[in-house]
Parts: sequence; C-alpha cells; structure tokens
Amino acid sequence: MPGYPALPEGIAYGGDYNPEQWPEEVWHEDVRLMREAGVNLVSLGIFNWALIEPAEGVYDFGRLDRIVELLHAAGIMIGMATPTSSPPAWFRRRHPGSRLVDSGGRVVAGGSRHGFCPSSPEYAAASTRIAGRLAARYGDHPAVAMWHVHNEYGWANAECHCAVSAEAFRGWLRERYGDVDALNAAWGTVFWGLTYGSFEEVEAPGVAPPGQLTALRLDYARFSVDAHIACFRREREAIRRHSDRPVTTNFMIPNCKPMDYWRWAGEVDVVSNDHYLDAARPDNHIELAMAADLTRSVAGGRPWMLMEHSTGAVNWQPRNLAKRPGEMRRNSLAHVARGSDSVLFFQWRASRYGAEKFHSAMVPHAGTGSGLWREVADLGGELAGLAGVRGSRVEAEVALVWDWESYWALELEWRPSVDLRFRERVEAFYEALWRDHVTVDFVHPAADLSRYRLVVAPSAYLLSAEAGKNLHRYVEAGGHLVVSYFSGIVDACDAVHPGPYPGALRDVLGLWVEEFHPLPEHGTVTLGGPVPGGEAPGGPATGRVWSERVRLAGARAVRTFADGPDAGHPAVTCHELGAGTAWYVATALDPAPDGAGRDGGDLRALLGPVLDRAGVSRPAGVPDALELVRRGDHLFLLNHGDAPVTVDGVEGVELLGGTACAGTVTVPAGGAAVVETARRPEELAVRGVTLRGV
Ligand code: GAL
Repeated sequence: MPGYPALPEGIAYGGDYNPEQWPEEVWHEDVRLMREAGVNLVSLGIFNWALIEPAEGVYDFGRLDRIVELLHAAGIMIGMATPTSSPPAWFRRRHPGSRLVDSGGRVVAGGSRHGFCPSSPEYAAASTRIAGRLAARYGDHPAVAMWHVHNEYGWANAECHCAVSAEAFRGWLRERYGDVDALNAAWGTVFWGLTYGSFEEVEAPGVAPPGQLTALRLDYARFSVDAHIACFRREREAIRRHSDRPVTTNFMIPNCKPMDYWRWAGEVDVVSNDHYLDAARPDNHIELAMAADLTRSVAGGRPWMLMEHSTGAVNWQPRNLAKRPGEMRRNSLAHVARGSDSVLFFQWRASRYGAEKFHSAMVPHAGTGSGLWREVADLGGELAGLAGVRGSRVEAEVALVWDWESYWALELEWRPSVDLRFRERVEAFYEALWRDHVTVDFVHPAADLSRYRLVVAPSAYLLSAEAGKNLHRYVEAGGHLVVSYFSGIVDACDAVHPGPYPGALRDVLGLWVEEFHPLPEHGTVTLGGPVPGGEAPGGPATGRVWSERVRLAGARAVRTFADGPDAGHPAVTCHELGAGTAWYVATALDPAPDGAGRDGGDLRALLGPVLDRAGVSRPAGVPDALELVRRGDHLFLLNHGDAPVTVDGVEGVELLGGTACAGTVTVPAGGAAVVETARRPEELAVRGVTLRGV
C-alpha cells in the first residue's frame, strides 16, 4: 500500500492467526507451513485479552513475545490486533454495568464475544488501557506492519439498550437538536401525542407496541454508530502515542447493516473488510463483486485490504456448502481485481474447540494432505506474481447510490409493502451492470458525482432535500441519472417531504406520483411497447412488487404499464434537464432470468440504451460468466462458467501462467487469467473480439 512501507511487498497473503489455541510445538510447524504457502502477513492476538491480562491490571506478554519473535525470524509480518472484541470473564464479573442489554431489556449472557456495551465507561477504560499496553510493547517492533483494532465493531452488539446507553443517547440528542422543541419538530412527535417535554423523557427505543417513532429508531442507530466509532478512536489514539504504523479495523461491508461505513471511512488509515459468501445463493460471485466495489468506494477509491474471507465452508449458515475447486482462487482474485491489496482468511489453522470448529481454514483439520491446502499453497505462489498490481486503482464511469441511512429507514415497520427491500433493488441494478461488464463505484447521494457518466439511485427512499439538489445539479451539468421507484420520499427523520412524491426528486425527474399501488405477493404487471419517440427497447417486460400512478411534469413516458392498476400510465420516463437526462423506473424489473420460467433480463435491456446515451463503454459479446475487470494495467478475467472462453485481441503477459499472450487468451472453465496489458476492456469489442468455446 503506498505510504505504508511497513507492509509486506506485493499482495499481502495470510490470515487470522490464533496460536494461543495450540501448544508451542505447533507454532513451529505453523511458521514452516506459512513460508511454504507464501504467507507474509498474519493478524495476531484478536482474541487473547484473557491471556495477556489474566486479571485486571496484571499482564503477561510472555507467550505473545515468543510468537512475535518466531514470526519475525521467519520474515512474516504482523497485523497486531487489540483483543477488545472479547473482554475477559473477569471484566464482566467486575463490571456488571458494562454488560450488553438487548432491545427487550435483557442482559445478554456471557460465554461469547461482543457481550459489552459500547457506551460503558468501564469498557472504555479497560479497552484503552490494553490497547495502550500493547502499543507500548510492540508499537515499533519491526515485524508489526499495522494495527488491527478490535474485530468487527457492531457484529453482535450494534445497539445496547442499557440505562447507560440511554443516558448517553440523551446527551447525543441534546447536541444534535439543542432543545427539545427542535427534536419534537424534526421527529414529528405530535403524531399520536408522543411529544416530549424534556430530553429526560426520551427513552431508548426497543421492544414496544407497534409503531414506535421511526425517527427515534433512526437516531438511535446513528447514535450507536457514533458510540462504536468513539470506542475505536480511543484505542487508535492510545496506539498512536507509541506507534506510527497504520491503524485499521475490519469492516463487514455490506453484511453489517447497522454500521454506516460512510461515517467510519475517515477514521481508519486503510480500509479493511471481511467478506463471506452466502453459499446457497446462486451467482454469489456477483454479490462478492458488489461487496468489493462498495468497499473500494468506502475507501475513497484507494486500495483496501481483504482482511477475512474463507478458504471453504463457514460454520454459521444453515447449510455450510464447501467451495468448489477453484472457487476460493476466483474469489480471492476478484477481490484483488476490485482494489484489494491483500488476500487474508479467517483463519490460519482450523480450531478444535468452540463455535467455529467446523469453519474452514488455510490449514484444515485434514491437514496438508488435503486438496484445500494445495489450493492455499498454490494461491500464495500465484499472488507473489501479482506484486505489480499493488497500489493500482480501478476506474468506474458509473456510480450506484448507497446510503446506510436509507437502508435502515426503508426497512423499518409499516412501509407500503414488505417487498420493498433496500438491497433487493441495489443488487438488481448492480447485477444488470455486472452482467454487462460495467465496473461501478458506490456513492453517497450528497457526494461529488461530477466524474461519473451515469448515476443510478435504486433505493434512495431516505434522501435529504440537499442530496436531491445534488442529483439535480449533477443532471443539469450533463449527468445521466436513473432513479428507481420509492426514492426521494422522506427526509433524515423519516418525515415525508412536503407535496406529492417523490418530494426530493420531483424536479429532477420532471414528474409527480399521485398514488402508490404496491402489487400483491407474486403479482406482476406488464410494460407495453415503447411510446413514439421513446428510446427504451420494445417488447413486453414484466414488473414485480410495485406500480404507481405517475403524472408527467416535464418528463415524457418511454414505457407504459400495459395492465395492472396503472394501465395506460407511464412506467419508465425520461426527463431532459439542462445538459443531462434523468430516467425513472416505476416498477421492479429483473436483471436476469430467475430460473422460474420468466423471461427476465428486462432491467438489462432497459439499461442498454441508457448506457449508450450516457456514453458508457463496455465490451460487446463477452459472456456473462466471464467477469472482466481492469485494475491499473492489469486485466482480470475470471471464468465463473462451465465452459472455457477464448478471448482474442488481448496482448500482454498472462501473469498466472507466466506466458505471453499474443492476441489470444483462453480462460478455462472455472479458471482465471490476469493479463498485464495496456488495453482497455472496451477496446476488446472495438477490435472485434471473437469468443470461442461458449
Ligand atoms: C468473522 C469474524 C471471525 C470469524 C469469522 C467466521 O465475522 O471476524 O472472527 O468468526 O467471521 O466466518
């Protein structure tokens, strides 16, 4: 990573290392095997608080010293963890007020990790102290490349509902609103007579009769993110007093809904992320690509670190499917293709004890005679050949709007339909673009959008008036915008913007919505052919989930509903505004056939002409199954399909096989190629790419 000379050269390779679970003789074998596999970075000490501070204020670093020296002697760098995600049993016993309380008011039992309240002053003192002790001892050790603070903030304790948290929340509200009348106005507490007379009357949200103030819940979610960030800052500052090494904490993008990682982004020296596939999900490599693109975007486009993923099965899904041969390699390369400078796993050696004994690892229970170990060792060798990728950037011409606050708000109770799900629409648009080999960034709706040719807002239910104006300015200045239904509806406190829907986007879209008509479960509507002058392709398309009565106010209809509650009315619209264009889609179109006999692919068909008009370049004729991403001078080709694909028109050196490809590269079924080439993927099409074997 540029600017972080302490990190190993090239792509960092390794994982979480928990030697405390093993006798010392195993450590020597570990280090020998790490070298065999090309491991150059391990995260150490994530769960060893009880060992290094066996009683309050009593420290024993002997074992950690020995393992640090062993790794150092072998040339393996260390991401030194602070163990604060799992406070010791003594801490819980001595500080009962620090225990996590769930939304039903129950004190959460011990015997697991993350059982603490993030607002607890006792936890603050103890975690800052141990972080400082570690930093004082290892802060300038030559083997310590970086600091891995905590582990997955908010994984199981995103919100605590104890009295200490409630009091801290009231302080947070005072700062945000100044006086209680301002809070009442913003939250709309006049509804149901929920007006507060003073901040003291505000309780933390939790299990309550239905219809609890949604603004209360949103602000509690924001407050809770801030509480965790405060925990991180305390540790980070304690470390910085002794160490100049970069400090990170592992995020869980996008699978930790409560953590608003836009707020977290500026806190870390390097963004790092943990990602696990949903094994049962078809095409889960598309979700992986989305997670990686979102992580890169949170990192502001800079290289980031894949801190954890799995070599094979996890242990916490209903059915923990093993990865197929080659899948772990493709997963790893996909993260690198999309901006990661590391491939790290949970974990080095499979545990014998506890909750994660059936989780895969780099060294599985079956040992080094296993196919999995072979794959791990081979991957280490291959990554060594990709050193030149490190530090390079991925460029995107298209951005998808992603806002955690909108994610939270859209999925609170009592929305117009339970089928309105934040990720469902984001993933639909992402998939449509992925299948067309369009690399995307993610953006906050208030961010600077000027460098993108196309911005898509699939689930922007909560959108401030200011963010709406930002989108307006973007279009006027020549941008292309696509907005999906039920966007621009409410402000930051979940209050409907004044006037007809979609209040924050009416002007930019040139329309208003008279009434929502959500569809029954499994209900569909048909979109009719293009209206005269419409650019959208013809042919019937199928919409799900949603229909609504769109009234034009400057926009024109490019598709209409052919049936359903809004038959004859606009379904897709186009608004020329200034130098740009804003499109609106009033129902859920699918990106690909769903396997249930429906045609599918309508969203892709719709986006095609929009991408053309926005001037977004993309390779033609490349099969969906071939993931094609450019990072700097490197073209990554990952074949997720069952047949080999040959691509002509690629010149350069194929780095995994180490061979020059003079015009042709063949990617085997399930295989991968990384070509160092100056050729852009869209030029493949321009030069008339021919594909064989598909
Ligand atoms: C992560 C966590 C690891 C391990 C892993 C299992 O969320 O950071 O400690 O539990 O999941 O998949």
